[in-house]
Amino acid sequence: MTSTPPDTAPASAGPPPVVGDGADLFAWLRETRRTDPVWIDPASGACHVLTHADALRVLSEPAVFSSDFSALAPPPEPGLPNFAEASLSVTDPPFHGRLRKLVSQAFTPRTVAGLEPRIAEVTRELLDAAAGREQLDLVDHLAGPLPVVVIAELLGIPTSDREMFRRWAEYLLPPSGDVTAGQFVEGGYAKTRAAELNEMADYLLSHVRDRRARSRDDLLSRLVAAEVDGERLTDKQTVNFAAFMLLAGHLTTTLLLSNALLCFEETPGSLSLLREDPSAVPTALEEVLRHRPPVVFLYRLTREDTRIGAVDVPAGRIVVTWIVSANRDERQFPDADRFDPRRTPNAHLTFSHGIHFCLGAPLARMESSIVLRALLDRYRDIACGEPEYHQRPDIFGVTRLPVTVRAA
Ligand code: HEM
Repeated sequence: MTSTPPDTAPASAGPPPVVGDGADLFAWLRETRRTDPVWIDPASGACHVLTHADALRVLSEPAVFSSDFSALAPPPEPGLPNFAEASLSVTDPPFHGRLRKLVSQAFTPRTVAGLEPRIAEVTRELLDAAAGREQLDLVDHLAGPLPVVVIAELLGIPTSDREMFRRWAEYLLPPSGDVTAGQFVEGGYAKTRAAELNEMADYLLSHVRDRRARSRDDLLSRLVAAEVDGERLTDKQTVNFAAFMLLAGHLTTTLLLSNALLCFEETPGSLSLLREDPSAVPTALEEVLRHRPPVVFLYRLTREDTRIGAVDVPAGRIVVTWIVSANRDERQFPDADRFDPRRTPNAHLTFSHGIHFCLGAPLARMESSIVLRALLDRYRDIACGEPEYHQRPDIFGVTRLPVTVRAA
């Protein structure tokens, strides 16, 4: 299923698209890390950062490497919701810090820990629904639905609206643009989904207003009540944060769960290792995150002239920070291409680094641990069939993963 490196394309040709298990892309990244660790696309001038040390620096210096692309994005269409506006991941300091403090007040480690029994219960229900089957699709039966149910419950979305909520998750992810050129979103996408995006914004707004009138025990109520230095979230910021939670926490977690099984399949003995010692599950999942990170790269924009490694980069350039490459950098990780379920330390960049470090990381870690333990309890054998991969450059993982299981 993996990874005999094919003949490598020259660096000047740019990164090949992620196809299948990404063997071509990994081969290009491995070679280019050696020859041009900061690779400049000759056509667009976009700057591609490939090593762990450089990626860490880019993600650590928001004063130089901005997350605000509003100057490059097409102007918001009148009459369409603009979910990017005041959204955590595309704001810079000082506004980012204020926004993050506010949402962190509502989305605390205690909130996440409190979800544990419910996640275990939903996992059980989903596995019960597939009981008796020897063949299942991991994405359809478990890894797809679980994260949506968890986010819906967390926010306080009624169970009866879940299906609609799940559908929206698909619409929120715009098609990716041309990565090599650092064109991050295909223009005009929002227009094609105007009805659905408006429906979603209106729906969330009605819930936000409801929580202002009548507080409940859910994240939307806590977001509405959060206050830092006399400042509160506006309705629009609350709606955007809820939509972002759905986008950021859904597909990524689905991919993590299916990527985990692919890593274990790739490395015989890893499932029995975890079965014998369940306390090894968190370490193994960190290695899954390093080895097959769901998010391939992150964009930044230089605010000023700077130098990365040996390369001068002018202000106003797109910087493509390759997480998949940083995570396989031989200078940071011995035997970097090998999946090692016992690897420690493991300073992968899959959840980013610095001020934008993934707010949902504790939830994703907890959710995947619960699922993995449930799978190990329930099945004696789990064997992956032929996966179908996402066909987009920014996502590494599968749309379908047939598995054959034998009950314990
Ligand atoms: C395996 C699962 C996940 C992965 C790989 C992942 C990855 C990431 C990455 C790479 C970023 C940083 C983006 C940047 O630096 O530009 C991020 C930010 C974020 N993630 Fe996650 N994420 C995951 C799950 C979740 C979940 C479950 C939630 C919440 C339900 C979530 C909520 C967020 C939020 C709110 C941010 C924005 C933080 C900020 O900009 O300050 N993520 N995530």
